[in-house]
Amino acid sequence: MAIRSAIITVMIQAAYKAAPGLVHDFGEVENLQVSMKGPSDFVTSADLQAERVLRAELARARPAFGFLLEEAGVVKGTDESHRWIVDPLDGTLNFLHGIPHFAISIALEHNREIVAGVIYDPLRDELFRAEKGGGAYLNNRRMRVSSRAELSQAMIATGIPWRGRPRQSQYLDWLAAVMTNCVGVRRLGSAALDLAYVAAGRYEGFWEPALSPWDIAAGILMVREAGGFVSEIDGGSGVLASGDVLAANDQLHEPLLALLAAANATRGAT
Ligand code: IPD
Ligand code: CA
Ligand code: CA
Repeated sequence: MAIRSAIITVMIQAAYKAAPGLVHDFGEVENLQVSMKGPSDFVTSADLQAERVLRAELARARPAFGFLLEEAGVVKGTDESHRWIVDPLDGTLNFLHGIPHFAISIALEHNREIVAGVIYDPLRDELFRAEKGGGAYLNNRRMRVSSRAELSQAMIATGIPWRGRPRQSQYLDWLAAVMTNCVGVRRLGSAALDLAYVAAGRYEGFWEPALSPWDIAAGILMVREAGGFVSEIDGGSGVLASGDVLAANDQLHEPLLALLAAANATRGAT
């Protein structure tokens, strides 16, 4: 059984505390699907309630730390070197539609570096966690990125920019390149779980533009601690700031970078 540090224990306890409310509310959403008004207000309040629980638990354990919360935004702490980055419900659209795929994501930043991450899928009871230098685990089993080294065997996850989002035509070029070179593409609707699944070796890679820090902070650390690579889609290192993510196992990160860059180049030429 892997040893857990005090800080990761705090993060896990917070996730476990918020999860039953989400699971309960998810059950209610399934009933609300048939009502005229639809469940969207209800989902918003489930999301806010989960964030309140997470915030209270984390603040109780480490009162001085600040926060970056998806819903409440920035909360300054007296300890300016530590900050929690929290997405109380990643996969909101799935939740809203009664699709059982969503997660809580919590990361801890120390001096602007992500040092710990927890992603919890409460419906499957899958707890993904990582600490800087301490490896990544799924329910106490060490995680390692997949060893598939051929794009032709690679299963790649992605997020599709929806109505009104920028860069849709660029995205279609990327998608065309990936779908014609890889064995499969998945869009399951939770970026946090997409990254956790790369860390767990379920996917060979994942790319999505324009994500937010709370979607990816924990997952980036997880992929790296599981032996994978994470960069911006063009290879840059400012992934948390830009939100343009390319994560992959150690053997396929480079080929995927090249594939996406070539898709861009072709586009530029037409
Ligand atoms: C979303 C999910 C989704 C991704 C979106 C995110 P939310 O987060 O991670 O997979 O494609 O870009 O905004 O809104 O469900 O917390
Ligand atoms: Ca999110
Ligand atoms: Ca969210």
